Order: sequence, then structure tokens, then C-alpha cells
Amino acid sequence: NGKLETWEGETEESLSPIYLKTEQELVRQTIGTFPSLNQEAALSTLEAAVTAYNHGRGKWPTMSVSQRIECVQEFAYRMKEKRDTVVTLLMWEIGKSYTDSCKEFDRTVNYIQDTIDALKNLDRVSSRFEISQGVIGQIRRAPLGIVLSMGPANYPLNETFTTLIPALIMGNTVIVKAPRPGVLLNYPLLEAFKDAFPPGVVNTIYGKGRTITPPLMESGKIDALAFIGGSRAANNLKKQHPKSHRLRSILGLEAKNPGIVLPHADLDLTVKECILGTLSYNGQRCTAIKIIFVHRSVIDTFLEKFTVAVSELKFGMPWEDNVFLTPIAEPGKPNYLQELVEDAKNHGAEVINEGGGMINETFFYPAIVYPVNDKMKIYSVEQFGPVVPIVPFEDIETPINYLVNSDYGQQVSIFGQNTEAIAQLVDPLVNQVCRVNLNSQCQRGPDTFPFTGRKDSAEGTLSVHDALRAFSIRTLVAAKEVPLNKR
Ligand code: G3H
Repeated sequence: NGKLETWEGETEESLSPIYLKTEQELVRQTIGTFPSLNQEAALSTLEAAVTAYNHGRGKWPTMSVSQRIECVQEFAYRMKEKRDTVVTLLMWEIGKSYTDSCKEFDRTVNYIQDTIDALKNLDRVSSRFEISQGVIGQIRRAPLGIVLSMGPANYPLNETFTTLIPALIMGNTVIVKAPRPGVLLNYPLLEAFKDAFPPGVVNTIYGKGRTITPPLMESGKIDALAFIGGSRAANNLKKQHPKSHRLRSILGLEAKNPGIVLPHADLDLTVKECILGTLSYNGQRCTAIKIIFVHRSVIDTFLEKFTVAVSELKFGMPWEDNVFLTPIAEPGKPNYLQELVEDAKNHGAEVINEGGGMINETFFYPAIVYPVNDKMKIYSVEQFGPVVPIVPFEDIETPINYLVNSDYGQQVSIFGQNTEAIAQLVDPLVNQVCRVNLNSQCQRGPDTFPFTGRKDSAEGTLSVHDALRAFSIRTLVAAKEVPLNKR
């Protein structure tokens, strides 16, 4: 809301997952400070969003769609000028490789353009006249009101924008709670927000979620919660709203996506896709393959090829050429991963690759854990990191039942060459998850495809097209006999 430079309250430091060598020792780097808002400051941004929605006549929710598109386009233009700064911050704040940081930025810019294109189509079909039983109705797609948008630390830019942009363009006003880590990259975008949108339309807040989000939710003035992150945090937020029936939730949550390797699978292709699926961005993707079921007939060859492929992945700093594995930004994550590995070992599994495990508080070398069974925590909990549990199976009912009994239902990847065997799996599995991938890793994109999950994995659907619907409501202006002028 443009008040950052005048903030005189508490601040917090953003600690990078990256250590640099000084003369004697390795030192974890602090890369910046940011305001840690108090409840009062958070509530003042809420008031700004409420005022912009209810009283900003002609200024945002009541603007024409084409005017709103112009503002968003202006923002995208200004945002592109900040590419280098934002990419650098992604590397330093969340440890994402240079290549993946560039992809995150460029994908976000494309997402904005795709949203604009989708809105032009949606507008043609949804703002239209209909006549029924002597009533002429103009059906309009209208905004919901005030949206609280909270993105995750693994995609602090891209996934925040997958809710922010559709919410904005449909005419809502938005409070963005920046994720930690990932908070600093909002700074270079503030000017662009300020120049492109009327005051109060986009409001970024920073600080401790437990301090600044409860007063917003408890106010009852948040109409939609757009949250991408852990299921427990999402539930807590929803419970804080005094009238749950008034709140629309669009949630992208946890997952435990299995890979299923069938007999006769092309193992070179399977290993390549399973490496991407389990370990790209250190496995810190909700869409990662988080457990691999491998048919006993191919297990030995699969394990051999997979272990070699892991040993060839470059482990290093985000800016190094061809780096694949990088430091982990989430506080305490390597310890948590190590606990999962120890639990699996206590129940009879082994780490079958050299060096797999925790190196220090931000480095964790991938651990391939085998053979995994349902007594181990890693069998059912989401690790969200570079631990790869592998389960041997004989009966295809084993991976099917795994999904039936799982708390999650996002995606599955099937690897095989026998089309009949694959076809028999697709129908039962597509009724358990929301995307079945054939001979490819699990993933969210392309962004124009629907992205969602069942059970504890999601609420609502996020894709370019679905998000426009999610952040709007179909309303009606009705008249008897008197024709309405088309807007
Ligand atoms: O962390 C969850 C993201 O939605 C993953 O997206 O499949 O494009 O990496 P991605």
C-alpha cells in the first residue's frame, strides 16, 4: 500500500539458505530486512481493500473489463523490467537454481497474458442477455469482494500470482500475504503495483502469519481465501472466519503422488521422468512424485539405473551451471527429512545410495530409501524434500489401494509400454486423483489445464480458465419487457 518506506515498527531479517565462505568459516547469509507488521497495520490494509472495493466507484470493481485488462497489462510490462532482480532474489531467498528461477518468472508473465486471453473468451460467454418466461436478464460475472491471497515459499512469485492475477482481473481487491521465505521479491514489484492499480486494490502485507492473518480472517470481511500451502494451516485460517458459509476457499494443499512402474516399462525414460518428478527443485513441489511403486520384475534394474542417475545430479549453489540440487530454504526441513529416514531405517529400510542424508541445516543430499512399507512414516506423509521412498509390488491392487486409502488425491504417474495394462489402470485411478500422467512425471502445467486435487489436496480448481470462475460469481440484472442496454 505504498507505506513501506515509512514503516517504523518491528522488522525481521530474511536469512538465505546459502552459506558463503569468509576467511575462517562458512557463514549463512542475511539478505535483507522486511517490516513485520502488527495487527493494527494488517487491519489498516484490510480497510484499504474494503474501501477500494465498496467505495472506489468506477475505480476497480465497477471499471469495465477492458480497463482492468489495461491495468494488468501495464503491471506486466513494468514487472518484466524487474526480471533480473526478482530472479536473483529467488536464488538467494529460496535457493532455486538460476534456470528454475528464470522459468518461474517467465511462466508468471505468460500466466498473466494467458489470463487476459481467457478473460476475453469468458466475457463473451458470461456477460450476455437471456430471455426466459418474459424476463430479460443480463447475466454478469461479478467479483466476490475482498480476497486474501497467500502463496507458498516454493513458488513465491508464480503460485501467488496464480490467485492474485485472476482475482484482480475479475474486479476483486486483494491482500497478499507474502510467504517467508520469498518475501523480499515483493519489493521490486511494489512500484509496479502502485503505478498500475488504483490505491487499495493490491495490498501486500509482511510478517508473521500467526500475528497478521487471524485479525483479517476474524474480521469476517474476507470473502475469499486463496491459499497454497499446508492443509493444517489452511484449516486453521478457515476456522478463524466467523461465518464459514460466507467464505469461498480456493486451496492448493498437500499431496503424496505415487509413481507406478509396470513390468516392461521403458526404464531409461522412467528413470529420467522419476528423477524430474522426485528431485527437481529438491522435491519441494506439491506435484512431486513422493513415492515410487516398482514391479518386482524390474526392481533391480530400476534401482541400479535410478541410483546412478541420482549420483550424476549436480549439487551446488543456485547460480552454478547445470546445478540440479540446491540448498533448502524451509527452516528445519533437513532435520525433518532425516527423522523420516531414521524412522524408515528403524523399520527395516536402507538408504541405498552413497551419501544420502542431511549435510547441514540447509543441505540434504537425496536419500533413496528401500524397501519401504506401510509401517514407515515416509509411506504416507508428505516429505516435500529429497527423500525417495521405493516400494516393490507384485499385485497391481497394491498401488491402487494406496491411492484409495491415501488422505491425498492429486496426481499419479504410470510408467509402462503395455497399452492394455495402462488403460485398465487409468479409469480406476482418475477417480482417485485429478490427473493421471502416462510415462511422464507429475506436474501442474501447462497452466491452461485444470489443476486441482481430491481429499486433503485441494479445494476448487486453479487453472487460467478455472481461476477466473473461482474468483467471480454469476449475477443477474433482470427486467420485464424493458430491454437492457448491453454494457
Ligand atoms: O508446489 C506445487 C506446485 O504447484 C508445483 O508446480 O508442477 O509446475 O512444479 P509444478
